[in-house]
Amino acid sequence: MKNRNIIGKYSCLAFVAIIGLSACRSKTETTPEKEEVKDTAAVVCSVAPTYTITEAVQDSIALSTPSVHSSVSLIDALSNRRTVRSYSSEPLSDQQISDMLWSICGVNREDGKLTAPTARNAQEIDVYLYTTKAIYYYQKSGHSLKLVKEGDFRQKAGTQPFYSQAPIAITFVADFNKMADFDEEGKQFYSATDAGYVSQNLYLYCAASGLATVACGSIDRPQILETLGLTNAKPILSHPVGFEK
Ligand SMILES: Cc1cc2nc3c(=O)[nH]c(=O)nc-3n(C[C@H](O)[C@H](O)[C@H](O)COP(=O)(O)O)c2cc1C
Repeated sequence: MKNRNIIGKYSCLAFVAIIGLSACRSKTETTPEKEEVKDTAAVVCSVAPTYTITEAVQDSIALSTPSVHSSVSLIDALSNRRTVRSYSSEPLSDQQISDMLWSICGVNREDGKLTAPTARNAQEIDVYLYTTKAIYYYQKSGHSLKLVKEGDFRQKAGTQPFYSQAPIAITFVADFNKMADFDEEGKQFYSATDAGYVSQNLYLYCAASGLATVACGSIDRPQILETLGLTNAKPILSHPVGFEK
């Protein structure tokens, strides 16, 4: 497994999350994430990795505080960023999933804004996580997961065979309900550009953590909408995520 390192697998042991995670403290500006927000600052993570997110189905999952202190520099991550299309089935730990989702587009400030910019702060890019057991919706403001449906739908996220190899998949869906003040051209253009930022955040998180991914625009959008039960939305990109085989 190229590029795999101790940081990715055991980040929970290595980092102290001081963060504050404005993420975990701020109130949301957008729906449907109106849940009570916890104060999760100053957590010291000193336990062995757990894998409950990928092993069991739960209606809602409070994600652990992201490990926001890394010894990997941005320059290192940029140097390592690349596309990978071959994955082992080894699962990601709960901490890695938490860190990954926060890196993609978690809340990083008290005012509820995100690690990825969005045009007019529309925050329209929703993140869906597919495991071998279920699909979850990532609730940015509460840094938590909400069950969408039970079952292994990873191969519905993309069209290429590596979706059934990688332990998880992600789909970025533009929720046009959050873009009501954009005209049609604006909805298409800005949702595509905004998805590019979250996709690059995922690439960089993987590059910094010994994980592997590929952005996929070649996806079956109607099938994804049907699988997720969505209307007035557009799946923009999907990514498998795992360890390189
Ligand atoms: C918007 C976008 C869509 C892409 N769609 C696919 C895809 O459907 N399938 C695939 O295997 N790779 C896809 N890729 C990955 C590119 O082929 C890859 O980024 C490119 O070959 C450059 O390689 P690198 O990422 O290692 O620099 C996509 C990349 C981007 C940015």
